[in-house]
Amino acid sequence: MKHHNPRIPHALLAGLVATLLAGTATARPPVYATTAEKAFVDALLAKMTVDEKLGQLNQPPGVGNNTGPAAMAGSEDQIRRGEIGSYLGTQGAVLTCRLQRIAVEQSRLGIPLLFGYDVIHGHRTVFPVPLGESASFDPAEVQHAARVAAIEASAHGIHWTYAPMVDISRDPRWGRVVEGAGEDPYLGSVLAAARVRGFQGEDLRAPDAVLATAKHFVAYGAAEAGRDYNVADISERTLHELYLPPFKAAVDAGAQSIMAAFNEIAGVPMHAHQPLIEDLLRKQWGWDGLLVSDYTGVMELMPHGVAADREQAGILGLRAGVDVDMVSQIYVKDLPAAVKAGRIPMAQLDASVRRVLNAKYRLGLFDDPYRSCTDDGARERALTLTPQHRADARRMAQKSLVLLENDDQVLPLSKSVRTLAVIGPLADHRRAMLGNWAMAGREEDAVTPLEGLKAALGDRTRLVVAKGTDIDSQDTRGIADAVAAAKQADAVVMFLGEHPDMSAEANNRTSLDLPGVQEQLALAVADTGKPVVVVLLNGRPLSIGGLKGKVPAILEAWFPGIEGGHAIADVLFGDVNPSAKLPITFPHNVGQVPIYYAHKNTGRPPRTEEKYTSKYLDVPWTPLYAFGHGLSYTTFRYDVPVVSSATLKPDALEQQVSVRVTNTGKRAGDEVVQLYVRDDVASITRPVKQLRGFQRVSLQPGEAKTVTFTLGFDDLAMYDARMQQVVEPGTFTVFVGGSSDRTQQATFTVGAR
Ligand code: GLC
Repeated sequence: MKHHNPRIPHALLAGLVATLLAGTATARPPVYATTAEKAFVDALLAKMTVDEKLGQLNQPPGVGNNTGPAAMAGSEDQIRRGEIGSYLGTQGAVLTCRLQRIAVEQSRLGIPLLFGYDVIHGHRTVFPVPLGESASFDPAEVQHAARVAAIEASAHGIHWTYAPMVDISRDPRWGRVVEGAGEDPYLGSVLAAARVRGFQGEDLRAPDAVLATAKHFVAYGAAEAGRDYNVADISERTLHELYLPPFKAAVDAGAQSIMAAFNEIAGVPMHAHQPLIEDLLRKQWGWDGLLVSDYTGVMELMPHGVAADREQAGILGLRAGVDVDMVSQIYVKDLPAAVKAGRIPMAQLDASVRRVLNAKYRLGLFDDPYRSCTDDGARERALTLTPQHRADARRMAQKSLVLLENDDQVLPLSKSVRTLAVIGPLADHRRAMLGNWAMAGREEDAVTPLEGLKAALGDRTRLVVAKGTDIDSQDTRGIADAVAAAKQADAVVMFLGEHPDMSAEANNRTSLDLPGVQEQLALAVADTGKPVVVVLLNGRPLSIGGLKGKVPAILEAWFPGIEGGHAIADVLFGDVNPSAKLPITFPHNVGQVPIYYAHKNTGRPPRTEEKYTSKYLDVPWTPLYAFGHGLSYTTFRYDVPVVSSATLKPDALEQQVSVRVTNTGKRAGDEVVQLYVRDDVASITRPVKQLRGFQRVSLQPGEAKTVTFTLGFDDLAMYDARMQQVVEPGTFTVFVGGSSDRTQQATFTVGAR
């Protein structure tokens, strides 16, 4: 079979490299490499055969742990032959220790294995899904959640988590919006860094450190039509302004691993994308970590149509800088001949093997390969599902609940309510508390909303429970019973939404409506005139405009983790005042998608009174709920923000923005104060707002605090026509408020050079 250079046109790659090298700041990530590491790894590398080197790059799945199409598990004989460097989806102190002993004591060089696993939002103590955690706008809480996950995962023998997922997405049809931090690159960057720090901890050699993986590199969330794995065809500017920043934040926070994405960008599949991996990540950003393929991502270069066979797919992947081949076992089975024939330079192979050995060295596995092993699993049991971890999950869930509507202050409900109707297909849905990526999570650990209500109310309140309908059914026969239940009650709480398998990987929807006849159920119950609360359990923004004005109170709960039932009750009865904000826009309907707050003004910004402007005939041009929206049981007033300098000198770009926030209600509450910036006139069109800061502030009734933000170069900069990051002279407007669509503003000027 003739092997030639990859079919990717060199002109395209050269053009891409030129623009890429032009942009992106050159901040350097923390340095983990040491001379001792280099000496150790070089000495080990010198002893390795080609087959053993390729073995280090091979990552088969564990037995029965496939998170994609069925694949062959890695065998113990492969470990003995040095053909496996790491395992996907294998966990448990006893099992990992047994496999580790085989690698260390029965293979020629005794190189320890890495055990990788999807610890996405908790291990056994499952936290809210990442989109829910992100709604907290609380980096410290998000970091702590990752820390708890690392403590439990490492006790189960895991060295490496395939998280945080940092893909920005503005298309809620895409199932994987549930796994990320929503639509905004600033929020996404802050939380990516927090999660990396949480997973990796202060010291990678600590037994409770796990390698973090920023995924999926890059622009996976730009999948056309919201269809997972589909092409992403985006501009260089969008790539740099929207999709790359969270990866840069993860790298600057010290992320030791990055996972390649399934998609192509403008014709170049990411698993063969040498300009973005070798030239941008490694050379431009100075990142020296481990790049792992996604599940069979190297093999998929064949169906992408850029590789004619497995060997060519492997050559493309390795040359692009994909170090570890997850699942397809191409590197270890199809590349030995190519290496020995010189079709892959030995230096290229050695570079990838070094990065795998570096990762093992940095975790201290060569000194203590059994760091998480206790042959009887005692440490695993001691550190799993502890009361403190459950308390942490409950607190995170409380902070993730977004109060979307609360007409007539229906919420909080009183605990002395005599009869409460509990209606809906998700009221007692145990699996929904876990979400879709809760690999080691167990349903029996979860507290459902119904159980949370019972625990909060004791036997003082009579609960009347009626499912009403299934999650995704056209069967309306249960609605009459639900209405009857509501009529008996003093108040009604409904639990509606999606099945957890309707979001996350490959779970995309062309509709954002409540599935089945749930909206019909809600309206029928609302028609009883009783005080009705709808709690949503879902993995994406939903077009629930039909409830507006009919259902007085709506609480967005996402998939809130194993303590979600208690957290929902805590908020419903006012033990906790909700403070979360939307990390992603809720559209009126899917026809508006993509719709997001950081939009451009266009030459014909929408105006109701003017036909020929950018808007729709059938729905408003504004969203149902804006990015940053979230109510409280109290109210807050924002004064007009004050800037420290009316004019900034171009070489002294530091601006303080202060705003006084007052709790004007009758109860204490937390408010997420948001700061947005607009470059009013520039050489490139700019979004009407861009998030550049947020702070949670706690205020007692009547209390006021002044919140101050500092803006610098990075907050004011843009990519100019040559993709250089610049701050151009002219006026900037700052917006401060409790939502992107409710702000007070002030303006300042950046002077000309
Ligand atoms: C899946 C996902 C990725 C996950 C990996 C291992 O296909 O795309 O997010 O980490 O495979 O399970």
